[in-house]
Amino acid sequence: MKNVLITGGAGFIGSNFVRYLLEHEPGVHIVNLDALTYAGSLENLRNLPDPARHTFVQGDIRDRPLVDMLIEKHKLDTIVHFAAESHVDRSIAGPAAFIETNIIGTFQLLDAARAAWMDGRAARPGVRFHHVSTDEVYGSLGPDDPPFTEQTPYSPRSPYSASKAASDHLVRSYAHTYGLPVTISNSSNNYGPNQFPEKLIPLMILNGLRGKRLPVYGDGRQIRDWLHVTEHCEAIRLILKSGVVGETYNIGGGNQPTNLSIVKQICALLDERFPESPHCPHERLIEFVADRPGHDLRYAMDTRKIRSTLGWQPRQTLAAGLRETIDWYIGHLDWLKAVDEQGDYQLWITENYAQRG
Ligand code: NAD
Ligand code: DAU
Repeated sequence: MKNVLITGGAGFIGSNFVRYLLEHEPGVHIVNLDALTYAGSLENLRNLPDPARHTFVQGDIRDRPLVDMLIEKHKLDTIVHFAAESHVDRSIAGPAAFIETNIIGTFQLLDAARAAWMDGRAARPGVRFHHVSTDEVYGSLGPDDPPFTEQTPYSPRSPYSASKAASDHLVRSYAHTYGLPVTISNSSNNYGPNQFPEKLIPLMILNGLRGKRLPVYGDGRQIRDWLHVTEHCEAIRLILKSGVVGETYNIGGGNQPTNLSIVKQICALLDERFPESPHCPHERLIEFVADRPGHDLRYAMDTRKIRSTLGWQPRQTLAAGLRETIDWYIGHLDWLKAVDEQGDYQLWITENYAQRG
């Protein structure tokens, strides 16, 4: 791993990964290809460690000539593919962009990697395509079902998860048919710095701070498996260094409270941090709103494979991670203002509320 293309590196997880790789891999040069959609921001790439080893390119992963040019010009040997449309609610409101970026975009990247790296079925030494995917491809669990393993059959249920499942299938088809050296990781819900405030945790923190209502979908009893973003980055680096080509690794935090319980935890932390706030107790702001259509009940990940084969394990408790994340948002209101200035945050919140009455 010398010259790495990171796609979507101005988004939430991608930008954390750029920072993490610069800190932990002193020999690596990064080319960061990101279209800077509403979810991507150069604010996420401020004050990088050793910025001389990071080249930012604003562009679309579907732009094949651009991708071909980058692979050749920078002698790229590794692709870590984060770029995607990532928000389930948006995929329900407007699925087309998800098909374009998540399916067509992944196809263009795979095909560019094949053209540049493969000679028949033989790959240039040391090359790797790592695809970042999600637990949502496995479907939804009942309350007592065992967690998803890497063998769980795919059963995506939203346009977002269906588009990610399609991209996973394409990646596997390029490995099987052409011999492209790939790895795939399927992660559970991430939280932490730089997450765009349309997702549950930052939305609740920022609405709570502003005294706005905290919209809990349905009865709030859905369950996600929460993972701190830094621990996701650690897992991906381990897979790049020691993962077996052709393999898939599940990644999850093992933190599985209900949505309502997370929102209540955030409220309690805000009460503790701002006892003088007029919005205390913040729980008063909770409002049950109409459910997400087709809302998946529960995700949980069986992470025994990555733990036993690569020695990865999450260490952060959700309580500590939430406290740290709240502090990060409070300490980065300039970041929020920059993201907000794009207009989309307010717009999305407004539309989101309107949709649910
Ligand atoms: P994000 O929405 O925060 O960032 C996505 C980034 O991709 C943005 O910077 C955006 O500008 C860029 N992008 C979008 N379309 C593009 C295109 N056509 N060309 C180039 N760049 C484009 O997403 P995230 O939460 O950081 O997720 C990153 C990846 O991880 C996604 O593939 C997602 O499916 C996966 N994932 C996310 C989570 C999570 O909890 N957030 C969990 C598991 C897997
Ligand atoms: O599981 C991994 C997935 O996690 C990733 O693949 C996706 O990219 C990422 O967006 C995330 O999807 P979710 O739909 O699980 O995340 P979200 O933060 O949108 O919602 C988390 C839960 O909280 C979900 O059950 C819906 C609920 N929710 C969400 C919002 C935004 C609410 O109750 N109220 C809200 O306002």
